[in-house]
Amino acid sequence: MNYLKITAKIRIYNYEELLFEEKNIVDKAKEAVFRAYAPYSGFKVGAAALMENGEIITGNNQENIAFPSGLCAERTTLFYAHSQYPGEAVRALAVAAHTKGDFIDRPISPCGACRQVMLETEMRFRRRVKVILYGKKEIYIIENIKDLLPLAFDQDFSFDNCL
Ligand code: THU
Repeated sequence: MNYLKITAKIRIYNYEELLFEEKNIVDKAKEAVFRAYAPYSGFKVGAAALMENGEIITGNNQENIAFPSGLCAERTTLFYAHSQYPGEAVRALAVAAHTKGDFIDRPISPCGACRQVMLETEMRFRRRVKVILYGKKEIYIIENIKDLLPLAFDQDFSFDNCL
């Protein structure tokens, strides 16, 4: 018997420590929160993607009375970004969440489905996506989606072994 040890590198910052372009997409993700449609959970999430061409695409969670039909902010944003700019990589993605009248203290953590979609973005353009998870008290920066999704089902399995 042996162990596979998995580690993730996450840097913790406060807002003042961020680079100008990081601050900019965090601000845009925070603004996008207020355009979310979240009448069922009351948990509003905003995301902002910085594209390779400098464009910033924002999105938010879109809920539905048939709950599984709704979509998280991260996927709404990435799908829209790729639908508008199919040839542009995403350089960074910021995410913020707001509930009970305020932004959350600790960084929001994307769900598994969103992590899988983020990974697809990295693989598709062969470029790392920097993920910036905003919390009022601290901000997490993850340089590579693989740190959020270890042992991912990726090209190594699907392309080499299945086709
Ligand atoms: N949600 C997101 O949009 N992103 C996340 O990272 C976590 C959760 C949404 C889904 C649902 O509309 C609401 O937050 C409550 O789970």
